[in-house]
Amino acid sequence: MKPMLVKRAAALGLKVGLKAGLAACLIGAVAAGGTAVAGDVEAGRTKAYTCLGCHGIPDYVNVYPTYHVPKIGGQHEEYLVAALKAYRDKTRSHGTMQANAGSLSDEDINDIAAYFASLK
Ligand code: HEC
Repeated sequence: MKPMLVKRAAALGLKVGLKAGLAACLIGAVAAGGTAVAGDVEAGRTKAYTCLGCHGIPDYVNVYPTYHVPKIGGQHEEYLVAALKAYRDKTRSHGTMQANAGSLSDEDINDIAAYFASLK
């Protein structure tokens, strides 16, 4: 590539990058509008699908009668985030929940927590 072209390509890349960044900011601002919720409830609804087998919603029915599954719908978002990070980082012990939280990103955890916190 000639030096001129390299320069142009770099400028173009920067432009696209700035646009994407701006879009992300705007989306973030809209999502945060009016509520203290950091996560995306709708995204969390999808991501929480596998959780519902145990943390039964909406009736909080325990599908595993042999052991206690805590009710997490309607819990404080901050509490849910803290609990999920603790399982993921193995600072809170529970094999089942460590397995369930192990592959979650911070964003997943925020979204899932927002979803469960939105349930009343
Ligand atoms: C196989 C059943 C099962 C699945 C699937 C499951 N959980 Fe759990 N969950 C449990 C049990 C049992 C506990 C109680 C663990 C303990 O005593 O620490 C628990 C605890 C929790 C807690 C802590 C609640 C509290 O009161 O401290 C949170 C938060 C939670 N689960 C979220 C989730 C999320 C989010 C998912 C999906 C990514 C999920 N769970 C999937 C069984 C399950």
